[in-house]
Amino acid sequence: VLADHVRIVEVGPRDGLQNEKSSISPEIKTELVRRLARTGLQTIEAGSFVAPKWVPQMAASDQIMKSILGSPPPSSGAITYQWLLPNMKGLDNFYKVLDAASGSRNGGGVAAAGYPTPPSSPLPQNDTGPALNTSSSDPNAMPSSPGGSGVEAMSHNEAAVASATSEPQIHEISIFMAATESFSKKNTNCSIAESLSRFEPLMKSARDRNINVRAYISVALGCPFEGPDTDPHRVAEIAASLLELGADEISVADTTGMGTAPRTRRLLQTLKEAGIRSEDIALHFHDTFGQALINTMVGLEHGVRTFDSAVGGLGGCPYSPGATGNLATEDLVYFLHSLGADTGVDLEETARVGEWITDKIGKGNDSSVGKATMAR
Ligand code: HMG
Ligand code: MG
Repeated sequence: VLADHVRIVEVGPRDGLQNEKSSISPEIKTELVRRLARTGLQTIEAGSFVAPKWVPQMAASDQIMKSILGSPPPSSGAITYQWLLPNMKGLDNFYKVLDAASGSRNGGGVAAAGYPTPPSSPLPQNDTGPALNTSSSDPNAMPSSPGGSGVEAMSHNEAAVASATSEPQIHEISIFMAATESFSKKNTNCSIAESLSRFEPLMKSARDRNINVRAYISVALGCPFEGPDTDPHRVAEIAASLLELGADEISVADTTGMGTAPRTRRLLQTLKEAGIRSEDIALHFHDTFGQALINTMVGLEHGVRTFDSAVGGLGGCPYSPGATGNLATEDLVYFLHSLGADTGVDLEETARVGEWITDKIGKGNDSSVGKATMAR
């Protein structure tokens, strides 16, 4: 029995929808985020600030962020929203939305940007700027801290906010790079080394504003161009470089779903030997070959307590032919609960969201658990 808290990062609104061919309106995407916020999920990757030429589906992410900032979704606790971005331009666009929200509220009795607080709120001012994120660089402040629930681990950051606001929200960024040169070039038009040097000023800027940074390493268990045998030592080197640059968490991604239990084990072993702590890692599985939950089990056995998933199994990868979606959140929640883990997520509520969004975008529901739950 696994009595621990396991943190789920819901990536459906971003990873799940970014490759959908038909254009999905910003209103539907915002509604998806709002519905997810009511399921008990505490971290939601809600969109991305990438070049619209490359990923047109994410072009309206600024509107979604504005909408969330302007009218926070009702939720049972603090919610962290993450925004994926590849470069300074993306970061600047993210700041624009954040700063506009803080500017429009400053005259309205709001103490800290983005937090709708009552005028008499004792919320301490954040003198490092209007960032919504109050986390420090203390690794123990990360939600994936060992031996405790994500909620507890974050609570010292959020306590002031939570006590003073009805619907606290934190906005973080996620950056991404690849473990193979071919994928790096295809996805971000630069080499692995160039990726790291791009991130240096970006990470510094985010740190100066106390904004948490999550960093993805794509194709960690197989690459559509270079095959299944991504070098785990390369993944470890990149993870170490990203942590050194100041990343708060590394999401190790099986973009193609080629990962198997033995290779996942070998990768996690290699990361451990390289000194990467399990509490600094999240695992991001795509379920293309149906191995995502088996690989999740391997991750749990290696002490990982943060996993990414997408409601309804949404997703796919434009550079991974035949790739199906992310591990479905419903399947992950059901599995974790069966082990005795605590996720804070309401399975039925999540299943309803999965059914709703897959229906809305005219796609089959890819979550076995979601379908079974709805059929009851
Ligand atoms: P580039 O073409 O080399 O960039 O692309 P550039 O600097 O030459 O700019 C080209 C144009 O894009 C310019 O506009 C820029 O202003 C604009 P123009 O002058 O031609 O009108 N531009 C931007 N616009 C808005 N926001 C920005 C931005 N940056 C440039 N941030 C670049 C390089 C990195 C920008 C591009 O390759 C890109 O945006 N890639 C993103 C690809 C992507 O989003 N992939 C999916 C996410 S990763 C993923 O799904 C994997 C993950 O789930 C984990 C896993 O499973 O593996 C995370
Ligand atoms: Mg992905």
